Amino acid sequence: GPGRPKPSPRPTFRSVLPNSDDRVTVPENYEQHVIVRWGDPVLPDAPEFDVHHQTAWAQSRQFGYNCDYVGLYQLDDNRGLLWVNHEYTNENLMFAGYGGGAAATEEQIRIAMAAHGGSLVEIERVGRSGRWRLVTEGPRSHNRRITTDTRMRLTGPAAGDALLRTAEDPAGTEVRGMLNNCSGGTTPWGTFLTGEENFNQYFGHAPGTAENARYGLAGGASGRQWERVDERFDLSKHPNEAHRFGYIVEIDPLDPGSVPAKRTMLGRFKHEGANVRLAEDGRVVAYMGDDERFDYLYKFVSRDRYREGSRRHNLTLLDTGTLYVARLIGNSPAGEIDGGGALPADGEFDGTGEWIPLTSDTESFVEGFGVAEVLVHTRLAADRAGATKMDRPEDVEPSPVTGKVYVALTNNSAREPGQADEPNPRGPNKYGHVLEISENGGDAAATAFTWSVPLVCGDPEDDSTYYAGFDKSKVMPISSPDNLTFDRDGNLWISTDGQPGTLGSNDGLHVMPVEGRFRGELRTFATVPVEAEACGPLISQDNKTVFLAPQHPGEDGTFESPTSRWPDGDLPRPSVVCIWHKGGADIGR
Ligand code: FEO
Ligand code: CA
Ligand code: CA
Ligand code: CA
Repeated sequence: GPGRPKPSPRPTFRSVLPNSDDRVTVPENYEQHVIVRWGDPVLPDAPEFDVHHQTAWAQSRQFGYNCDYVGLYQLDDNRGLLWVNHEYTNENLMFAGYGGGAAATEEQIRIAMAAHGGSLVEIERVGRSGRWRLVTEGPRSHNRRITTDTRMRLTGPAAGDALLRTAEDPAGTEVRGMLNNCSGGTTPWGTFLTGEENFNQYFGHAPGTAENARYGLAGGASGRQWERVDERFDLSKHPNEAHRFGYIVEIDPLDPGSVPAKRTMLGRFKHEGANVRLAEDGRVVAYMGDDERFDYLYKFVSRDRYREGSRRHNLTLLDTGTLYVARLIGNSPAGEIDGGGALPADGEFDGTGEWIPLTSDTESFVEGFGVAEVLVHTRLAADRAGATKMDRPEDVEPSPVTGKVYVALTNNSAREPGQADEPNPRGPNKYGHVLEISENGGDAAATAFTWSVPLVCGDPEDDSTYYAGFDKSKVMPISSPDNLTFDRDGNLWISTDGQPGTLGSNDGLHVMPVEGRFRGELRTFATVPVEAEACGPLISQDNKTVFLAPQHPGEDGTFESPTSRWPDGDLPRPSVVCIWHKGGADIGR
């Protein structure tokens, strides 16, 4: 009632301590359950997993490898459709005696291709708890596997352009499969957006053009040599095929027959993911990062407005609008940014910024680039526009409570001390940082913003770290922020990818209030197994469950000599787990 103080949303659980244990470690009073593992049947006709007799046919019906983004579409309170990206494969852990390169067999290559993409699986709540399990009986009619062979549409202004036409697709409007899908987001109309990230590694024999160089498309055979079994991966024969990857893909979980759409309007780069917020007038805004050292932050603003309940209309929103890239300007004198993380005299790394328009669906704003060229060679257009070079933008996620936008800048070992600036204040940046953007007027469609850096990661005893001014004797270490999400109260959850190599302990999932007097009080909620990265954190709408995807457990081992035996005590298997409070309390208590 009136006058009663709002309950504090501050997390109060006791932090998990840094460790190198080969398990998922959760706080006291919490429990966990493995929902789905690499090889588990997804389609009802899928065979049981047999790692010693794996086939491409079986893999195309089973849960894929290296889980990254996790999304949940709830059908009702107790049933849901779990979407999981399968970013890439660790063949050294999938196949006995894997020789690699030219020694890889054609069947191994086809299995790896089928282990990429994504899975959609039906899950159900156990009792009334925060525990969920895989549905393993019945029709499972929504279940779906998407692989490197799934038919997809190219949509938006670049679809059909000469840059996208190939021998297999002379119209430039259809493509098979998606590659290296890393992070993602969900839309207000209930679809998943998934980002094609390091797609360049799958192509061989790239012609030595400036465009290919800017995207890391190289000459010579590719590492996995897929070009041996599917010629389109040989760019000397099909130079445009690589133009058909590097997009945000929209997937409709409610229609198993729907054709996934690559939305060219959102640009082509090493897309980490895309996260959507509605502007005040109902237009759709998608925030996106290009995960490369010295690459950029982007946003898309739709031309048309979201219409509640009008799914068919909403499924067209990402095809028309404007694509922007960010420029950030610090408000402290450049001489006060020493590259070692010392705060400037005004006490904060902060400043102003603008969203520079690159193109609309009908008009390019970059000299020398047409609309389709901006959307296919987006990095080169953004170079021309004078965007700010960032320390590897990973998840870019707006808070559903405040609308402020958070950017995980995972690290940048190549930034020289003299290249440090206020938005990227350390050089080299070994541990990464988190940026906070406040759009002018709180409107997601604004073209100007202010920003600050609330978190400079590392060991809190290291002077170059900063936890929003909070007492550093009361916070936990964190390195290499990657995926972001929020709980119902607007606390920022941050998972990491790189802590073993920088702080010498396993990666994990942390939570930090970003508003009020506990802003900066970072706690560790979970750690993942040996050599795994912590992906996909997602908190259920009822605040009772955390979904977490330990990716590449034991990545430095081999099939014969595994360095992780999670989760079964046998070969490591990338999996998705759920974590809940034993007493039924909200997550974070
Ligand atoms: Fe696949 Fe940017 O991490
Ligand atoms: Ca400042
Ligand atoms: Ca990532
Ligand atoms: Ca990463």
